[in-house]
Amino acid sequence: MSKTLVCKVADVPLNGTHRVDLPSGLKVLVANAEGKLYAYPGICPHQDVDLGEGFFDGKTLTCHQHLWQWDIHSGSAVGLAEAPLEQYALEVRGDDVLIGQESALNACELFVGLPSVLLARLDKLATRREYKAGEYVYKVGDPAEHFHVLEAGRVEFLIGRDERMSAAGFMLKKGELFGWAALLEKMPRRIASARCHEDSAVLCLNGAETLKVLESAPESAYAVMRKLCATITRYLSVEGAT
Ligand code: FES
Repeated sequence: MSKTLVCKVADVPLNGTHRVDLPSGLKVLVANAEGKLYAYPGICPHQDVDLGEGFFDGKTLTCHQHLWQWDIHSGSAVGLAEAPLEQYALEVRGDDVLIGQESALNACELFVGLPSVLLARLDKLATRREYKAGEYVYKVGDPAEHFHVLEAGRVEFLIGRDERMSAAGFMLKKGELFGWAALLEKMPRRIASARCHEDSAVLCLNGAETLKVLESAPESAYAVMRKLCATITRYLSVEGAT
């Protein structure tokens, strides 16, 4: 797990919060509850709203937009909230506040449960790329050689071309996989576009190389393919996101 410097202890007021934008694009909210620090994503899991503008009473964090609330000690949902907040591992080292982040690959539904040796081999195939808000990861018609796992930020899908392009109606969050055509045969081109809704970081893996690694462990490969089928079915029930 890599550690990232987020801020100084003194930046976080007692029973208050401090919002930080990391160079990677990750937005982090650090809260100080009676002297103990906690770190969470800085964006509400409901909609694209800054949690730094919410309310914090030392115990409960409230998003000001629709009043979803979370227990600051655990990130669990309280009251109206329909989703928990993912708590980052936090370490105080002297005056520095650091957070630890699992590789997005570990959080990827497709690879959860794989033997660590296999995950480490996949991790070696991954290249991390950063995109600015509005940049495309790929467009309709591009070669489908790589698939992607979202590490930070948000990615939206667009279907159609040029002036007939329209949003497919969903956004991805950390650990979600997209561009899965690269893991299929006879799907050489993209049929949708993936555009960053905000500054984002993405892991890119070559599909053919990934399949070679998986083929060395047929039992694991079977489990991955079953999950991939479920993922594709879920996407297609919204609209194509290859
Ligand atoms: S945007 Fe935060 S609760 Fe709706």
